[in-house]
Amino acid sequence: MKKVLIAPSVLSADLLQLEKQVKTVAENGADFIHVDVMDGHFVPNLTFGPNMVAALKRVTDLPLDVHLMIEHPEQVIDNYAAAGATYLTVHQEACTHLQRTLQAIKQAGMKAGVSLNPATSLTTIENVMDDIDLLLIMTVNPGYGGQRFIPQSINKIAKAHKMIEKSERNILLEVDGGINHQTAEEVVRQGARVLVAGNAIFGTEDPVKAIRTLKDKAHIGLK
Ligand code: DX5
Ligand code: ZN
Repeated sequence: MKKVLIAPSVLSADLLQLEKQVKTVAENGADFIHVDVMDGHFVPNLTFGPNMVAALKRVTDLPLDVHLMIEHPEQVIDNYAAAGATYLTVHQEACTHLQRTLQAIKQAGMKAGVSLNPATSLTTIENVMDDIDLLLIMTVNPGYGGQRFIPQSINKIAKAHKMIEKSERNILLEVDGGINHQTAEEVVRQGARVLVAGNAIFGTEDPVKAIRTLKDKAHIGLK
């Protein structure tokens, strides 16, 4: 894909202004809405559930990119399908039977994503490349917005890109954590095509301008 998609993360949005903020980014260059689901176990923080996804579905037509940072994601697949998730991404580290979980996500009518923490090797997913639509490389340790990009991620993104090319499958390569106007260009150069950004969009005075800057920087990396 010759385009870079921007996925604003509502984790950094003002929840009291959520509808307005989501509509603003949707009308001004956002391609996906990224929803960070945290259970207080897999990660220390606790955030949203399927209700949030259903609420977002009512205010936007953009694909809802749901990132499950939870234990036992296989138990809640149908809830997220019913809520209207487009992509459902699970963590490799949270799935004993990853291939079965990915199949179940697809059977429920969603696109299947898998995410890797910074310490987890790409080799852990080489046997499920046929089962995924999206690969999410965490560029921070998951749990909070506003953390600093881990520089070692650059190599991993490049390797992930090669793995996807070798698979000859249409898999979106997404990065998440510390993506901003300084890091966007390089992650795209290494092969990332979906950029999640929370703080760099909703943490600024002007989210519309922030998206524009991110896209501009990202497209430099494409050249
Ligand atoms: C981190 C979440 C991210 C988070 C990114 O655990 O998965 O999606 O919202 O936030 P920023 O862009 O602020 O690093
Ligand atoms: Zn996320």
